[in-house]
Order: sequence, then C-alpha cells, then structure tokens
Amino acid sequence: MSAPLRIGLAGLGTVGIGVVKIIQRHADLISARAGRPVVITAVSARDRTKNRDADLSGFVWEADPVALAARDDVDVLVEVMGGHDGPAKLATEAAIAAGKDVVTANKALLAHHGQALAEAAEAKGRVIRFEAAVAGGIPVIKTLTEGLAGNQMRRVMGVMNGTCNYILTRMQAAGLPYEVVFEEARQLGYLEADPNLDVGGIDAGHKLALLAAIAFGTKVSFDKVELEGIGNVSIDDINLADDMGYHIKLLGVAQMTGRGLEQRMTPCLVPAESPLGQLQGGTNMVVLEGDSVGQIVMRGAGAGEGPTASAVMADVIDIARGTRVSTFGRPASTLATPIAAKSATPASYYLRMTLLDKPGALAKIATALGEAGISIDQMRQLNQPGEADNKATVLIVTHKASPSDVAFAMAQFDTTGVLIGAPVAIRIEEV
Ligand code: NAP
Ligand code: HSE
Repeated sequence: MSAPLRIGLAGLGTVGIGVVKIIQRHADLISARAGRPVVITAVSARDRTKNRDADLSGFVWEADPVALAARDDVDVLVEVMGGHDGPAKLATEAAIAAGKDVVTANKALLAHHGQALAEAAEAKGRVIRFEAAVAGGIPVIKTLTEGLAGNQMRRVMGVMNGTCNYILTRMQAAGLPYEVVFEEARQLGYLEADPNLDVGGIDAGHKLALLAAIAFGTKVSFDKVELEGIGNVSIDDINLADDMGYHIKLLGVAQMTGRGLEQRMTPCLVPAESPLGQLQGGTNMVVLEGDSVGQIVMRGAGAGEGPTASAVMADVIDIARGTRVSTFGRPASTLATPIAAKSATPASYYLRMTLLDKPGALAKIATALGEAGISIDQMRQLNQPGEADNKATVLIVTHKASPSDVAFAMAQFDTTGVLIGAPVAIRIEEV
C-alpha cells in the first residue's frame, strides 16, 4: 500500500465536518478505492472552542489556514471556508506556492479568481478540483471534464440554487407570497449569510460561469453573466404560469453562439411536465447538451453536509489515485477570452400587465407589440380578485421574439398611457 494522502482541512462548518465524517466512516473503503489511505493531519477554523459534531481529537489544530496550507505534513488543501477573497484565496495561493493540490467547494473564489489560480496551479504542476462548488452532490464537473470530453458542448442549463428553487416551489404549493416564503427560508437556515447571493442569482451565476468555462473552453467570465434574481417573481405570476402549463424557475443557460458566449441566470417559465418543471424544493438539476451524446439530465441534492462532502471526497480520491485533470478540463493557458454576447436567442415570452379598463387600451398594447415585430400567440384578460372595475389584468404569450424586440415593446408600453404599474416579461425556455 502506498503512503497516505494527507489532507489539511480549512473550514469545519457544514461541509468540513461532512468531510471529516466520511473519512472517519469510510476509511477502509476509501483506502481500497484510492489505493492508499486518505487521512486528515491538520484542521483550521476560526473558533477552536466551538462544539462540533465530529471527533477532531486526532488532528493538529492550526489557527491560521495559510499556515495550514503550507505545512510539510499536508499534501492536499481542502478549502471549505468560503468567501472569494480573504483566507480562502490566501490559503489556496499558499497551498499552490508550496506545491500542493487543492480541493475546494468555493464557487465564489473560482468565479472571481479561477483563471489566475488555475494558471498558478498548472505552473507548479498541481491541480485545483471543485466538484462540490457546482450543484453540490451532482458530479457535473467530472461529467463535463471527463465523461463528455469527446463532445462539442452545445448548451449547459440548470437550476443550481436550491434555496431559490425551494422558495419558488413553496410559493406555488402553499400559495404564499415571496416575502413570507423568503422569511420561512431564513428561519430554516437555507439562506446564505448574505441572502442576495441566493435570491439575487449570484451564487447560481457563479456556478453557471464555471460550467460555461469547461463546456466552451473559455476563461471564467462571471462578470458577463446576465443576472436577475427571484425577488420580483410574484405569486400571481406563478399561479398564472401554472394555469398555462408552466412553472417558474431560476434557470441558468450558457451557450456558444455565432456572436459569442451567452450566459444568463434569470427567472424563466419552463413546461410544467419537463424534468426542470418537475423539480421540487432545494434540489438541483443540470442539463448538458453535447453534439454526440445529445441531452443528459442530472438531478440531486445541491447542498447539505452529506452531498457536498461526497463531492469533495470524489476529488480527494481522484488525487489520491493520481488522476489529474486540468482545473477547467484543459490547460488554463489554452482557455480563450470569451466574447460576451447579450442573449439574442429568440423565445416566446410571458407578458403580464395591468391596464386601464377602457376602450382601445388593449389595442394600444397590441399595436406596440406589432411595431416591435412581435406576434401574439395567446392573450387573456383576467378579472383578478379584488381588482377595481377600472383596471384589467392582461396576460399575453408571444410567439418567438428576440430579447431586444421584447425590451423595445416594453419601452413602448410605457408610452401608451394605458398601463398601470410596471409590466412583467418572463422568457419561456424550451427545455
Ligand atoms: P460554514 O458552515 O459557514 O463553515 C465555514 C467554516 O470556515 C467554519 O468552520 C469557519 O470557522 C471557517 N472559517 C471561516 N473563516 C475562517 C477563517 N478566516 N479562518 C479559519 N477558518 C475560517 O460554510 P459551509 O456551508 O461549510 O461552506 C463552505 C464552502 O462550501 C463555501 O465556499 C460554500 O459556498 C461551499 N458550499 C457549501 C454548501 C453547503 O451545502 N453548505 C454546498 C456547496 C458549496 P468557525 O466554524 O470557527 O466559524
Ligand atoms: N446557497 C446555495 C444553494 C448552497 O441554495 O443552492 C449551495 O451552493
């Protein structure tokens, strides 16, 4: 049996303790699969006195994660502290400088610094692995970098933030408004310390940017992801969409087009009966489309102690085995700088607006759509409960239209003088 692979574990929170438990519970299994034992030698966290749900007595305590990363008795840094700057970045850089491999669950770190860190690691002949950073327990990074390595990827899509999917599906199931369910999610401990990372779409945008880099061979470009969170999704829209056979999801889509790389993370309508439409609660789903393989759908827990630690361990065991894959599936120096393309792929749109209920009001809206070159597929006027007599809610589903034509039409609506409040436009994604 070869020498053990020695881990320095930076972070003893949800994920870190999950890693400790798997290594302690499955020592023999891991050793058999890796061909050598995998052991933790030293750990680091902020508060040494904190009561943690695991036996840490056999590990050296290192107060400073940077010192942990550089220790002689550490072969691999497992970084599960979080944060895109500060100790996570410093410890990762220190590990690479000291010639160690790194496993991280930190999507924020890689979305912001992935290119520089991958180049630094490769210059030292080391690897950075991040299976846990995207869609928790779903092995999507391995699938893209290895299982689908022979494909030209066409599109990657997915629901990659469990908290948002929990909020949207709970709103629908209970008929509750966003604010109430947001508060429930907070009470349940689902929200990140900064909730905007979840509901603002940022966390999911980080994940999409990482998948896009692998799928399309481009440098991570999180700053070019079109981002819109779920804060404006109303229970009315969820119910009206449901009536028409759609569910609303915070959906990420990345694809390479003739104009450049499109990346968007926005609320979308998807067919209720589709795999994405059926996705309930905090679960994640990633859809991968390659030229040879066609479509692959992967579903599973996107977060939580066990699923996330499972993904960390897959990376650790690969390193123990000697499996070495470049961070983004090819040498970082060969990743292209992407031309960022604003989404132009046409789609049908769901439009909801409140109009003055008077002769000619609807005609003005129809004219604005016609002038934008947009054709109406379905239209309904609804009497919403409690709506005043002089107001009417109007729901329109368009035929396929480009995002810029829809934006033009929305601007035209404002000039009609019949609109009350802001209209809503949500893309209907074909999945
Ligand atoms: P967490 O529960 O908040 O734990 C963070 C750990 O890092 C804590 O043990 C904390 O120490 C330690 N830490 C923070 N700052 C530190 C510092 N300056 N020096 C030393 N230790 C420090 O976080 P988590 O949920 O485990 O998440 C860890 C990483 O995994 C994040 O990047 C997150 O985005 C990612 N991730 C998490 C999940 C999930 O389900 N939780 C899923 C996918 C990815 P104390 O305990 O002493 O405070
Ligand atoms: N906040 C994230 C989510 C955790 O809700 O999916 C996992 O990255």
